Amino acid sequence: MKVLRIVYLASLFLVNKSLSSKCTTFRTGNDVFTDCQGRGFRYVPRNIPNDTTCLDLSDNELSVIFNFAFSRLKNVSSLKLSSAQISVIDSKAFSGLVKLTSLDLCYNTLDIHSLPENVFDSSSFLRILDLSKNNFRYYPEKVLEKLTNLERLSINGINDQTFGNGFRSLRKLTYLNFEPCMITRIDNNTFDVFKNIQLKELVLNCKIRYVEPGALIPFQSIESLDISKNFNVRVSYLLQLLNGLMNRNVTSINFSNNFRHVAAADVLLASQFAMIGAVCLKEVDLSHNNIVSIQSGGINLMKHKHCLEKLILKENSIWGDRSIVIEMVKLVNLRFLDISNQATLHVKTKVNKNKTGLRRLVMTDTKYSSDRLTIAFQLPRNLQYVDASYFGVRSTGLINLNFTNAGKLDFFNLAGNKFKDCLGHFHGLSHLQTLDISESNCSELDLKMISFMPYLKTLISRRTHLNVGLQNDVNGEFLKQLFGLRHIDFSDNGFVRFNQNMFVSQYRSLISLDLSKNKFSKFPIQISKFSTLMKLSLMQNQITFLQKSDMNNLENYQRDKNIEFELLLNDNHFVCNCDSIDFLRWLQETKVTLDKNRNYSCVYIDNSQKTTVYAYKHLEFIESKCLSKIWLTITIILVVGFLFIFTASVIAYKYRITLHFWYLHIRRKYRHYTALEGDSKEYKYNAFVAYCNENEEWVCGSLVNYLEKTNGLALCLHHRDFAAGKFIMDNIIDAIFESKKVVLVISEEFLKSSWCEFELDMARMKMFQDNRDMLVVVLLDKISPSQMPISLQRIWKKVTCLEVDETICTNQNGNFEHLFWKRLYEAVVM
Ligand SMILES: *[C@@H]1O[C@H](CO)[C@@H](O)[C@H](O)[C@H]1NC(C)=O
Ligand SMILES: *[C@@H]1O[C@H](CO)[C@@H](O)[C@H](O)[C@H]1NC(C)=O
Ligand SMILES: *[C@@H]1O[C@H](CO)[C@@H](O)[C@H](O)[C@H]1NC(C)=O
Ligand SMILES: *[C@@H]1O[C@H](CO)[C@@H](O)[C@H](O)[C@H]1NC(C)=O
Ligand SMILES: *[C@@H]1O[C@H](CO)[C@@H](O)[C@H](O)[C@H]1NC(C)=O
Ligand SMILES: *[C@@H]1O[C@H](CO)[C@@H](O)[C@H](O)[C@H]1NC(C)=O
Ligand SMILES: *[C@@H]1O[C@H](CO)[C@@H](O)[C@H](O)[C@H]1NC(C)=O
Ligand SMILES: *[C@@H]1O[C@H](CO)[C@@H](O)[C@H](O)[C@H]1NC(C)=O
Ligand SMILES: *[C@@H]1O[C@H](CO)[C@@H](O)[C@H](O)[C@H]1NC(C)=O
Repeated sequence: MKVLRIVYLASLFLVNKSLSSKCTTFRTGNDVFTDCQGRGFRYVPRNIPNDTTCLDLSDNELSVIFNFAFSRLKNVSSLKLSSAQISVIDSKAFSGLVKLTSLDLCYNTLDIHSLPENVFDSSSFLRILDLSKNNFRYYPEKVLEKLTNLERLSINGINDQTFGNGFRSLRKLTYLNFEPCMITRIDNNTFDVFKNIQLKELVLNCKIRYVEPGALIPFQSIESLDISKNFNVRVSYLLQLLNGLMNRNVTSINFSNNFRHVAAADVLLASQFAMIGAVCLKEVDLSHNNIVSIQSGGINLMKHKHCLEKLILKENSIWGDRSIVIEMVKLVNLRFLDISNQATLHVKTKVNKNKTGLRRLVMTDTKYSSDRLTIAFQLPRNLQYVDASYFGVRSTGLINLNFTNAGKLDFFNLAGNKFKDCLGHFHGLSHLQTLDISESNCSELDLKMISFMPYLKTLISRRTHLNVGLQNDVNGEFLKQLFGLRHIDFSDNGFVRFNQNMFVSQYRSLISLDLSKNKFSKFPIQISKFSTLMKLSLMQNQITFLQKSDMNNLENYQRDKNIEFELLLNDNHFVCNCDSIDFLRWLQETKVTLDKNRNYSCVYIDNSQKTTVYAYKHLEFIESKCLSKIWLTITIILVVGFLFIFTASVIAYKYRITLHFWYLHIRRKYRHYTALEGDSKEYKYNAFVAYCNENEEWVCGSLVNYLEKTNGLALCLHHRDFAAGKFIMDNIIDAIFESKKVVLVISEEFLKSSWCEFELDMARMKMFQDNRDMLVVVLLDKISPSQMPISLQRIWKKVTCLEVDETICTNQNGNFEHLFWKRLYEAVVM
């Protein structure tokens, strides 16, 4: 046997060596910590410094603790051997550990045989012993008997085992924890052996199903009792245990997490709830117990109701008889109330449906929500903290609540109550510092909702549709006068932009502002107006990049106000392209503190998904891309411009006459605006005669004689009627516009004259404009149509053409018998 053991030892030694893992030691003052945790040791290593005071050997594979394993380590006071796969401990294993005060042996496979009777003989100072999570089927009474200095003991709780003399000897025990605890029943005698022990803390996270009311009587010094996680028992039943502590002063009792049946519920009768007051109890935790109703009246019955300072009822399904909340005013010293997270239980139980009280105040009752009454609400006068989040106020609007006695309330959480609207305000919360109204629908909002909270420091309003509620609040009424607001959380409100005056009252107080999960595409606030803002979250918005001015403002703000400013930008719609080059550079170079190591994802210049750090490293590439893009743009603009000018010129050339006509026409109209009124019908002249100086003799002779003197028509002749000092073009245009007809006296000389074509063109345009034949052509010379100006050729068919023969040409003496004259007259007056 001995030989085998030596071989075994040797083999372990080799394994240890091959792992060559070393412990680490560090010293602070008189303490020397040696950490050998989780290094695969199979025996206690030899090289632990002999001045070690705290030794951690947990998470190894020790299996056996041999005699004298720690004998060199005389100064160790704390030894951790948890999770070390220990099943055997030799009787002199801890020999030499004369200063040992704390020993942790939890999470091994010890049972009563692995702990020899004398194992702690030399450790008479042991005060803390953790034997929990082992395999004890009997309590190691004989070992415990020697530990007269033990103060804290953890051990697994064994069902149907009585506590014997071992426990009775633990005279100094103050803390007892059974873990894991298989105990199913505790009766009047179970804890008898503890009668003379001043136990202060008891943890019974067991499997209790049966209790007798006197079971806790032996624990007359108890300060803290934890009877949670007994999954099979209703808390209403467990409360009778408080009988045993009647009239004691107890600091806290934890009754949470007991009843876990998904298909059943618990109802606390008034008499059961009143048990809490049988004890002078400061703090009680009744959370997570499937409680669906607390019968009203229980608080009245509490004997020591003035003792209660902290009441936790969270995570139940309290639905019926919520008037308990109203009764609470009697708990005059209540400071802390948690009634949050009352989930709907999917079971049908007999619930006491009391139609009065708070139920009527805050639950489905449209009559009240439409009235907008001010409802008075009296609080326990020392209440400081109320968590009523997810209380389950369903489908009702906010009402005006006038709290009385609320002068000490500084924390009020109403999140998750999903009020249908925010058309109500709070009165009386004169010292409130923190308010959370998240998840209500504040599309309809009473702008005075929080106006009467002069000391408000923190406002949390997530997912409250404030973008709608505040869209018309141009004066910033909502936050006005709240000069002490330091932290605002407006995340997830659908904001696209803010009204300018939103934070006017907070410029000197605001420290952090959470605007994440909104829809901002630009930097939303005027940072320079603030003076204490240190943190702004814009996460999960839709910003593509920051504008140059915003970056400058941020830099200036940080520098001028000397503030370590933190900006959170993760999860925006950043782009890494030509537009955002300045931004990309700023992100990496600014002194403003940013999140995510400044490494945000962005849409890269080639539309792929990259990060801003990547883009920064490739800035030159982006810039070169952008440069070529700029040149491409310029080229395209130039080409398009050129094409346009070219086309325009071609068109202008083609229609130059039309354009010229219209130009002159408009100019004329402009100049003669008043003079020309009504001239469209009445012409000043019957005809404008266009001729060249060479033909003046004939025109002024025969033509004028015949048409003016004989027939009384008015002619316009350039040498006689043109106004002096005007442009000749304007004169021509005037003449054409003021004459019913234009008589072109065409001769070879006329065709050569520069004005000929102009007059012709203008007359032609006027013809088209008025849609009438107004041109009378008198051919003085024999001219074939092909020699005529192109303009005339084009309209040749529409003009009246009169040819003049020699006789007419030379006729000076008033013989106007010739048919020509008659036709001319008719053509002019027609
Ligand atoms: C402790 O170890 C040191 C060397 O590491 C040795 O010099 C010293 O004698 C040892 N002290 C005791 C009491 O064993
Ligand atoms: C143990 O502690 C005592 C006093 O704290 C000290 O004098 C002694 O040197 C320590 N022993 C070792 C081995 O360091
Ligand atoms: C247990 O003790 C309580 C209180 O002393 C007593 O009322 C009750 O009858 C006892 N129960 C039993 C079964 O002895
Ligand atoms: C009560 O015990 C539960 C665990 O069972 C724990 O989560 C809770 O924090 C405890 N309550 C208090 C007030 O300590
Ligand atoms: C409880 O505490 C109060 C004052 O703190 C004290 O007067 C009273 O005697 C105590 N009761 C018990 C049973 O210890
Ligand atoms: C309902 O609650 C009111 C107010 O707390 C109380 O006066 C009344 O007795 C209760 N009714 C029932 C049936 O419990
Ligand atoms: C609130 O209630 C108190 C006391 O009942 C009363 O004096 C005060 O006028 C009320 N305030 C409002 C705004 O209703
Ligand atoms: C919020 O209330 C408005 C009107 O009061 C309504 O139109 C809207 O649908 C509500 N939104 C939600 C999410 O309930
Ligand atoms: C930036 O983020 C990308 C992707 O998340 C990662 O691959 C890269 O290593 C990061 N760069 C730095 C410098 O952190």
